[in-house]
Amino acid sequence: TTSIAVLIGCVVVLAWRHAAGSAKRQLEPPKLVVPKAAFAEEAKARYQQAKFKVIDLDDYAADDDEYEEKLKKETLAFFFLASYGDGEPTDNAARFYKWFTEGKERGDCLKNLQYGIFGLGNRQYEHFNKIAKVVDDIATEQGGKRLVPVGLGDDDQCIEDDFSAWRELVWPELDKLLRDEDTKTVATPYTAAVLEYRVVFHDKTDGSVLENGLANGHANGNTVYDAQHPCRTNVAARRELHTPASDRSCIHLEFDISGTGLAYETGDHVGVCCENLMETVEEAEKLLNVPPQTYFSVHTDKEDGTPIGSLPPPFPPCTLRTALTRYADLLSAPKKSALIALAAYASDQSEADRLRHLASPSGKEEYAQYVVASQRSLLEVMADFPSAKPPIGVFFAAIAPRLQPRFYSISSSPKISPSRIHVTCALVYEKTPTGRIHKGVCSTWMKNAVPLEESRDCSWAPIFVRTSNFRLPSDPKIPIIMIGPGTGLAPFRGFLQERLALKESGSELGPAILFFGCRNRQMDFIYEDELNNFVKDGIISELVLAFSREGPTKEYVQHKMAQRASDIWSVISEGGYVYVCGDAKGMARDVNRTLQTILQEQGSLSSSEAEAMVKNLQTTGRYLRDVW
Ligand code: 2AM
Repeated sequence: TTSIAVLIGCVVVLAWRHAAGSAKRQLEPPKLVVPKAAFAEEAKARYQQAKFKVIDLDDYAADDDEYEEKLKKETLAFFFLASYGDGEPTDNAARFYKWFTEGKERGDCLKNLQYGIFGLGNRQYEHFNKIAKVVDDIATEQGGKRLVPVGLGDDDQCIEDDFSAWRELVWPELDKLLRDEDTKTVATPYTAAVLEYRVVFHDKTDGSVLENGLANGHANGNTVYDAQHPCRTNVAARRELHTPASDRSCIHLEFDISGTGLAYETGDHVGVCCENLMETVEEAEKLLNVPPQTYFSVHTDKEDGTPIGSLPPPFPPCTLRTALTRYADLLSAPKKSALIALAAYASDQSEADRLRHLASPSGKEEYAQYVVASQRSLLEVMADFPSAKPPIGVFFAAIAPRLQPRFYSISSSPKISPSRIHVTCALVYEKTPTGRIHKGVCSTWMKNAVPLEESRDCSWAPIFVRTSNFRLPSDPKIPIIMIGPGTGLAPFRGFLQERLALKESGSELGPAILFFGCRNRQMDFIYEDELNNFVKDGIISELVLAFSREGPTKEYVQHKMAQRASDIWSVISEGGYVYVCGDAKGMARDVNRTLQTILQEQGSLSSSEAEAMVKNLQTTGRYLRDVW
């Protein structure tokens, strides 16, 4: 039997993340249900004589040497690799990626390997599918034989379609390799079954078991918190940062981490496991037509213990209300697989037909219009197909994706605020094309959060810290430039707190220029007093402000940078660092262009020399971006 490795370097969930951001500050990679739930399943069904191993790249090898040993022995492997942030791999691929990209001298060690790569990225970003492309290049250089062109999944459009197209290229290649001569002509028909948890209903009516697994510290005393083991923290403080004159909202929130063992560093991100609004939950309860106090648990095995298939890990036993509040993404656009699952439970035949059509290749345009362009939420779609009443085991397994944590750049420094993690979050509140008001799940939760300052019965959330490479230079004398308009200011507030602590402990500080931009000084100049104090105390040597909606023309941070071209050039020539935080699609791209122009003009360089200089600053870690 042939052994096939399916190597996962992305986050696998049971459904795809909604592309049009519900949380603007989401710093997370595109996600894929497919490797486990469909790719390997379908492959197993098609090639029963082959042996499939589906494994996280991180679990694939215990140490770096083992990667080489193991890969040398593989003859067939499929990699699923996500890129996000500034062209970075997900945590579970980070160690592999570092090892793989640093090992140029390994010769043709992959000469026995035939491989395929599917990348998960977003075309809106500069480093579109960088990880997949780089691994593909190196694998070929090292003698690997590419079975199919690298798949470039685009989360900005329909990554599900990109995946299906790529998969259709894979089967004929695997047919050639794995089918017996006499069965070659017989194509195995395959229809994915609708996945479903086994549900056990309990007698219990209260939700007391709910907080299991979320308590401070783990049962085994281990305090390494991560997405699977978040730490329950109280909201200690909360305040609005915009003035009443603003028609938008930006929240400053502080999580109390004292006594939890949760630690962070300046520049890290915090993942927040938030809750749906009660009004959203009640709507879902009505649509499902199941009493909210129904107490149940979900299981991934049949009663006799055999596994059901590739299901996401179950959540703790709880009421339907709790499950809908904490575990179901109800406001994202439903994926095609969710429409198919809904169709299976539509009692009205015309509704079932229409749902199946929307999910089919011939309904591609209608899906793009009705679901994607209209930003229809799962609940809106369910309301349009009222006869579709899926059982809860199907709903949580195949229809509502798991509610994902939202990531924020931490806006404090542990040197000043060791027992609190600060977050700076703009409220997402927008009208969608169908007239629905889309309230961002986490930002709305933060806006409504009740802090401990106001009530002992305060809001809390499970959180965890994700390490980043967005760090101040180790020598505080090195000059720095920070560019962070809007909530892009967040990590720089942490940087400035850190510099304050360093100064107080006697360190000498190098120059620091902060470029900040907002609409109007009177409305959304967040942390104004704090920034002025940082200037007064010599923590910021220069605060450069751009107000975009005060004068007749837009003033953006990059316009201010152009005016300070010679200052920027001297910081860079003296070995200084440049940091950018904020929106990747508009601001960070424009700032990057401006930086290149500045280098070109000030350094009398050609355009390609300036470009190479920017790249060099990036690879040497002197131009760092925390963008989303
Ligand atoms: P605007 O909303 O008036 O266009 C923080 O969001 C600030 O960033 C706002 O003043 C916003 O201006 C500005 N901004 C919007 N697009 C930008 C871009 N491409 N580059 C720099 N700043 C931008």
